Amino acid sequence: MTRIAVLASGGGSNLQAILRHFDALGATAPGTVALVASDRAAAGALEKARTRGIAALHLPASGPAMALEQALDAHDIGLVVLAGYLRLVPAGVVRRWRGRLVNIHPALLPSFGGHGMYGHHVHDAVIASGVRVSGATVHFVDEVFDRGPIIAQWPVPVPLGDTAAALAERVLAVEHRIYPWCVAALARGEVRLGEDGRVVGALPFAFEEFMASSDAPFANS
Ligand code: GRF
Repeated sequence: MTRIAVLASGGGSNLQAILRHFDALGATAPGTVALVASDRAAAGALEKARTRGIAALHLPASGPAMALEQALDAHDIGLVVLAGYLRLVPAGVVRRWRGRLVNIHPALLPSFGGHGMYGHHVHDAVIASGVRVSGATVHFVDEVFDRGPIIAQWPVPVPLGDTAAALAERVLAVEHRIYPWCVAALARGEVRLGEDGRVVGALPFAFEEFMASSDAPFANS
C-alpha cells in the first residue's frame, strides 16, 4: 500500500478528486493519502485533509529548508503528488523521490509552463496566443518548474471566443478525471520513470476508451 503525500497551495479540488477515486476503489485502492502539506496556512486542501483525519501540515516557505523532506520521511511517504503546489520542490526531495514525485499542469507542456505559469496566468497566455487546443499534463517532477518527463496528456479544445475563466473550468474538469487515474497507476507501479529518464509502462486505459467512457468530460460533446 503506497503512502501518498499531496502538496497543495490552493483549494485542493484535485486532492478531493484523488481521495474520491481511492474511496471508490475501496479495498483495491493501491495507496492511501497519508499526508497533505501546504505552504499556505489557509489552503483549502489542509481543511479538506483535516476533515478526513489526514495529517495536515502547514510548511511556510520561510521555514527550515529540510522541513518537507523530514515530514515525508516521518510519514513514510512513497509517492509525492503535487496538486496546485506553487513552490519549487527542494532539490533534496527531488533527488530522493525522483520517479515518485509528480505534478499536474493545466496546459499541454512544454508549452505554457515554467516559472510564473500557474493558475489564471496559464489560461490567459493560452487565450492570448490563439492556440485552438490546450489541455492537462501529468509529469514527473525534476529540478525545473514543469520540465520533467511527461506521463500523460489530454487535450481540451479552445473554441473561438473562449475565455480564460471558461477554459480553466474545462481543463480542471479534465484534471479531476485524469490525475486520480495516473496517481493510482503510479501507486500500482504500472507507470514508472526508467533508468534512461523515459517514462515506461502503461496507463490502465487507452486514450480513446477514456474519452468515450460515460463520465469522461467530453463524452457528449
Ligand atoms: C490546477 O489547475 C492544477 O493544474 C494547478 O493548480 C490548480 C489546482 O487546483 N497546478 P486545486 O487546488 O487542485 O483545486
